Amino acid sequence: MRILAIETSCDETAVAVVSMVNGVFAIEKSILSSQAKIHAQYGGVVPEVAAREHAAWIFPLMTEAGIPHDGAGIDAVAVTAGPGLVPALRIGVELGKTLAWAWKKPLVAVNHLEGHIYSVWLNTDHPPSFPALSLLVSGGHTELILMKDHGQYELLGMTRDDAAGEAFDKVAKLLGLPYPGGPEISRAALEGDATAIKFPRPMLDSGDLDFSFSGLKTAVRVYLEKEESVSVSDISASFQQAVVDTFVSKTLQAIEKTKPASVILSGGVSANRVLRASLESSIQLLDGSITFHAPDLSLTGDNAVMIAVAGLMKASRAEYVDPLTLVADPNMRLA
Ligand code: KG4
Ligand code: ZN
Repeated sequence: MRILAIETSCDETAVAVVSMVNGVFAIEKSILSSQAKIHAQYGGVVPEVAAREHAAWIFPLMTEAGIPHDGAGIDAVAVTAGPGLVPALRIGVELGKTLAWAWKKPLVAVNHLEGHIYSVWLNTDHPPSFPALSLLVSGGHTELILMKDHGQYELLGMTRDDAAGEAFDKVAKLLGLPYPGGPEISRAALEGDATAIKFPRPMLDSGDLDFSFSGLKTAVRVYLEKEESVSVSDISASFQQAVVDTFVSKTLQAIEKTKPASVILSGGVSANRVLRASLESSIQLLDGSITFHAPDLSLTGDNAVMIAVAGLMKASRAEYVDPLTLVADPNMRLA
C-alpha cells in the first residue's frame, strides 16, 4: 500500500509518500517547508500566520513531491487531524478530505502524537516490541504513554502546565535566545557547566507520572533577576540537566510500574542529545532486556513521513474516516 500524508498541525508544512510492503516502510517522497523563521519574529507560533503559510506552501509542496493530479498510484490519503492549532490543522484536513473525495480513495485521520511515536518505526530493522513505554516530548505535549499494541494506548502521565519544548522555548526567550529555543539552549549548554546552578527537579516525588515545568522556568527567571553577572551557557546546561534528570527519573518510575519490553523517546525535544544519551544509558543499566528507540534526527521534528507510517498502520486495520464529515480536532486524544 502507498499512502500520501499531509501534516500542517503547527509550523511545518509537510507532504510525504510512503509505501508499506510486508510490514517494511519505504519513504518515496518527503518534502517539508518550515515557517520557524517567520514565527521567530513573534517569539512563538502565531496560528493565523501559520495557516496563511500552509495555504501558500501546500500546493507547491505537492507539485514538488510529484503527486499526480488524478492520484494515480496512491492507495489512501492520511492527514493530521489533531492535536494542533485549528487554523493550521484545517488547511491540511480540508486538502486531505478533498483529495480523498475527488480520487475516491480511503481517508485516514492521524493523531499527530501517534505520528511522533511511529517515527521510530522508520530507518530500523528492529522496531519496538510491545508493551512499549513511550515518552513523548514536543513543543505542545509531554506525555508518558503505554503502547500495548499497534493503535492501543494508555495515558500514564502528562504535564500539568508547560510542555517540555515550551519550557525550552520560554527559558530561551528569558535568555535572549531566538525561537525555537530547544536547539539554541542545547547548543549553548555544550559550553556550560551542568552543575553550576542547582535548579529544581520538579515533581520527582509526586507519586504519579505527571510533569510540571512552569516552576523550573520561574526558577530560571528568579535566578536571572537575582544574579548580577550570569553565564548563558551555565544556565542553559543546568536547566537542560534539570529537565533531563526529571525525564530519566519519571521514565524509570514508569518502567518499574509497567514493565515494558521497550522504551520509545519521540517528539521535537527527542533531538536533544543529552536527553537521548542519558535515557538510553539509564535504561541499559537496568536488566538489559528493555530496548531503547529514538527517531532518526531527521525525523524528531514535525514531518509528514511519521504521519504516513501511522496512517499506513491505521489503513492496515481499515480505520478510515468519512471525507464528508472529518473535522480538525485541536484536542484530539490518543487514549
Ligand atoms: O514535535 P515538535 O517539532 O513540534 C510539536 O509538535 O510541538 O517539537 C518542537 C519543540 C520546540 O519546542 C523545540 O524547542 C523543541 O521541540 N526542540 C528541542 C530541541 N530541538 C527541538 N528541545 C530541546 N533540545 C533540542 N535539541
Ligand atoms: Zn510535533
